[in-house]
Amino acid sequence: MSNKTYSYYNQLFKDKQLPLAFCDLDLLDKNCHDIAKRTKGKNKTIRIASKSIRCIAMIKRILDSDPIYKGIMCFSGNEAHFLMEQGLDDLLLGYPIVNQHEIEQICIATKNGKKIVLMVDSEAHLQLVNEIAKKVGVVQPLCMDIDMSTTFPGIHFGVMRSPLNSIDKAEKLVDAFSKFQHIRLSGIMGYEAQIAGLGEKNPANGIKNYIIPTLKKISNVDYTKRRKAIFEYIQSKNIKLDIVNAGGTGSIESSKQEDWVTEITVGSGFYSPALFDYYSNFKHEPAVGFAVQIVRKPKDNIYTCLGGGYVASGTAGVDKIPKPYLPSGIQLTENEACGEVQTPCIYNGKEQISIGDTILFRHAKAGEICERFTELHLISNGKIVAVTPTYRGQGKCFL
Ligand SMILES: Cc1ncc(COP(=O)(O)O)c(C=O)c1O
Repeated sequence: MSNKTYSYYNQLFKDKQLPLAFCDLDLLDKNCHDIAKRTKGKNKTIRIASKSIRCIAMIKRILDSDPIYKGIMCFSGNEAHFLMEQGLDDLLLGYPIVNQHEIEQICIATKNGKKIVLMVDSEAHLQLVNEIAKKVGVVQPLCMDIDMSTTFPGIHFGVMRSPLNSIDKAEKLVDAFSKFQHIRLSGIMGYEAQIAGLGEKNPANGIKNYIIPTLKKISNVDYTKRRKAIFEYIQSKNIKLDIVNAGGTGSIESSKQEDWVTEITVGSGFYSPALFDYYSNFKHEPAVGFAVQIVRKPKDNIYTCLGGGYVASGTAGVDKIPKPYLPSGIQLTENEACGEVQTPCIYNGKEQISIGDTILFRHAKAGEICERFTELHLISNGKIVAVTPTYRGQGKCFL
């Protein structure tokens, strides 16, 4: 875990325009190295989940850090277009899109030689893309999203996205490709969210933490069989897949055991936000955070800051609130937590902090913080070495 101290960051930030978001490049580089190391040995590449980065310079830095990093999983057609304009290629849309203009732009890009794959999970998707690809005059590669969730009595363990939740349903969709001339099956993806995105030690999950490891084990056996059978069926049809995509940050160790998997998607692990503190089998460095400024002091041990209320998406809960980071021991108040404009913090520690100083936080999730800041301050070796725009700083807001 990082040994960066409060004063290391505070002296860099306190005279800047606050609040600001930062990326500690030394920690980011360590995370890139450690994630590559977790993945190596089984002949897999890593696709970067752009939603968890949302900053072009950081996407490029990760891609350049090791040859294992190959390709990007993006989240909308317009974002894919933007990434291509920024010189990036080998894009996989992680989620279906049905906006005709966006699909047309993707088909045109394919026609112009870009490597870009759309996600589908139903015959309606195939039909829609086929019609547009026909108009453009191209064969558009597609990837099928296979549901990886497991149903236990009273528990849906996983996400609700793709309807392809059985071998039979997936095989039917594979067969449906033969009805269309302007699309081709180029990949399958299965996102085992219940392994990849669910820590075993999140205090907000209370006693559920005791059963999560067991559910994970059972679910792993269940979806692995499904993914293998679907892969084998596609092979039996003499279809050559370019992509068999699995997982996320939290499932590298299990996803890489599947021989048929060609690549693993990783996003959150690079910034390693607060929700990624709660896994038992890995620990990455807190590379990204934000600094707010103390502007008033209502009581001896209370320091009230300007800004800070950057709550994460998903089910509402205390684990979605930014996590107080430095100085260590800093806490939020129960009544106000992180406020829209005012965030009172309780501090009884040894650091001498006063009005004008900063308090550092980490967002619960990875890329979302970049929707609240136009730039990331890049830190290395005790200096701010650059300031680089986020998607928002480039005027982009895709979702
Ligand atoms: C389709 C898909 N694959 C992979 C991931 C893994 O990303 P991360 O490493 O950020 O957990 C996600 C994240 O939500 C996802 O939606």
